[in-house]
Amino acid sequence: EFAEGQARFEETIAADQRVEPRDWMPEAYRATLVRQIAQHAHSEIIGMQPEGEWITRAPSLRRKAILWAKVQDEAGHGLYLYGAAETLGADRAELTRALVEGRQKYSSIFNYPTLTFADVGVIGWLVDGAAICNQVPLCRTSYGPYARAMVRVCKEESFHQRQGFELLWTMMRGTRAQRAMVREAVDRWWWPTLMMFGPPDAASPNSARSMAWRVKRHSNDELRQRFVDMTVPQAERLGVTLPDERLRWNPERGHYDFGAPDFAELARVIAGDGPCNAERVRRRAAAHEEGAWVRAAARAHAARRGE
Ligand code: ACO
Repeated sequence: EFAEGQARFEETIAADQRVEPRDWMPEAYRATLVRQIAQHAHSEIIGMQPEGEWITRAPSLRRKAILWAKVQDEAGHGLYLYGAAETLGADRAELTRALVEGRQKYSSIFNYPTLTFADVGVIGWLVDGAAICNQVPLCRTSYGPYARAMVRVCKEESFHQRQGFELLWTMMRGTRAQRAMVREAVDRWWWPTLMMFGPPDAASPNSARSMAWRVKRHSNDELRQRFVDMTVPQAERLGVTLPDERLRWNPERGHYDFGAPDFAELARVIAGDGPCNAERVRRRAAAHEEGAWVRAAARAHAARRGE
């Protein structure tokens, strides 16, 4: 039965079809999916914090409504992803414990502070732009529930990216001080955004196996390049200069050349030593504790309905 399951799994991957929750799968495949999906879910939920800080300070009712809706979308993405992890047998309460105890990761990018309202626009434009580059291929990842969750997530991320660009576009047509604010925010976020794609391919321990299983469809460096190629023309339209002296079009390669992010900084931030790591995790832990009564009420309601 084991050999039959394994053969079917290998055929499914080779035929580029989806593995579903009840199918046999190697334990290492299950473990890598739980690792990646949980980390992805945690990123969506922790990612609510840097922008959420600006909801009460948004400069107009329109901007407040947009930001509020966007931050709620991120909560929804976290929920689909925790749901996908549960189809692999993961326990959601345990995933949350692993996050707050530092046993599971979340994206490095959310450990940087949001210092001005321009950061809200830059997160939409650059950070959500990077998320789209990374996540559109995941709509075809080999595990069915993860792939299907990504379809809706990517549609919403595209909307988020456009709203970020539109905010920056408006600010760039505003006062000199607003333009300076946008440029300063772009300078701060550019390199951390490039780090979101992970270490370079040669230093990415999970890539080879995840690509063989078609969990990942492109390497970290391929996606980083795709993001730079997509973003440079947008920066030109916007009228901002990306802070990289090595950035230039390479006609032979048909891609932009660009400088290397500081991967030592990425390693430090992943290890917990970024500007806001402690604050982000503390706040997540506090929100979880403060929400205990909601979980208790949901359990009591389910028990009364005999579920
Ligand atoms: N932030 C935090 N951890 C990272 C980052 C990052 N930017 N990049 C890599 N890592 C971690 C990896 O998770 C891995 O650690 P682990 O083995 O404990 O999980 C380690 O660094 C080495 O990296 P890789 O071997 O390259 O890991 P992997 O093959 O999983 O690739 C990647 C990393 C590209 C982030 C992949 O997991 C992925 O595509 N995840 C789904 C997308 C995602 O999580 N997005 C969240 C941010 S975007 C958003 O939500 C707006």
